[in-house]
Amino acid sequence: MLNKIKNLNKELDRINLNSASELEFFRIKFLGKKGILNSLFKEFKKIDNNEKRNIGLSLNIFKKKIKNLILKFKILKKKKIIIDDLEIDDLTKPGKKKNLGSRHPISIIKHRIINLFNKIGFQICEGPEIEYDWYNFTALNFPYYHPAREMQDTFFIKKSNKLLRTHTSSVQIRYLEKNKPPIRIISPGRVYRNEKISAYSHCMFHQIEGLYLDKKVSFQDLKSTINFFIKNFFGKSITRFRPSYFPFTEPSAELDILWNNKWLEIIGCGMVDPIVLKNVNIDPDIYSGFAFGMGIERITLMIYKINDIRYFFENDLRFLKQFKKEF
Ligand code: DAH
Repeated sequence: MLNKIKNLNKELDRINLNSASELEFFRIKFLGKKGILNSLFKEFKKIDNNEKRNIGLSLNIFKKKIKNLILKFKILKKKKIIIDDLEIDDLTKPGKKKNLGSRHPISIIKHRIINLFNKIGFQICEGPEIEYDWYNFTALNFPYYHPAREMQDTFFIKKSNKLLRTHTSSVQIRYLEKNKPPIRIISPGRVYRNEKISAYSHCMFHQIEGLYLDKKVSFQDLKSTINFFIKNFFGKSITRFRPSYFPFTEPSAELDILWNNKWLEIIGCGMVDPIVLKNVNIDPDIYSGFAFGMGIERITLMIYKINDIRYFFENDLRFLKQFKKEF
């Protein structure tokens, strides 16, 4: 038995506990109910009395060695020399690093817009970026020959009727196909167009679309909703609704805001065209509604006085770090 203890002592000398899981494994192996120490003590009971003193002594030293190893681990952990791997493995825990990144300006503004619409009952609804022609164009009353398609040229997926969506209005159709009024949704997301990349335009950008559908919804409801948003988002500001054209709304309007003495167009909107409602089997004699859409980049450029849209997508840390304190 003395030899056994000697070998086990040698094993202990080689052990280095580096993590909580190693410690646990070690504890069960040596101190567990069916562990080494218990089995040694059981064996100890059976040995001759004249051997007991000697073996008992080395058994106690062995036991102390085990406890010391555990103590050493605890001290090192307290001093943070050992970092518990159980903590590292828990990927759901918030990061410990102090120098974490910051929210992207587009996300900051997107969240501010969403929060305001959430307050008046609009719920978020998202859709795919690779979209069928039906949802992006045809159901929104842009038949294939319609000249309004020209302004929203995009990237088409070869040999399919799919494309990269040009606006988040496509989500309207997806939602309307599956849900009955009353409907109040807001759809943020990324959109694509065949545009030359410059300081003012990009082939990829973000929009937020809104849709409100119920009985007896009027243009007045549209105006008051948009005005609520403008007032709360921009504070006091001068705006104007200007008649416009979109295939999926009738009548259609654009909202301009007076910004640094210039009229800037920021929201497209209108009453949902009855043709669109018929396309999704909703009776336009019973229901009416309004829709609106805005570009997040445009608003973000305004708010932060940024003069080039390309900064948003270059991932230059010197640019991104400037938004550190914002949410
Ligand atoms: N989808 C339009 C665009 O990308 C924006 C828009 C205009 C959305 C009017 C609407 C709307 O819902 O009613 O240019």
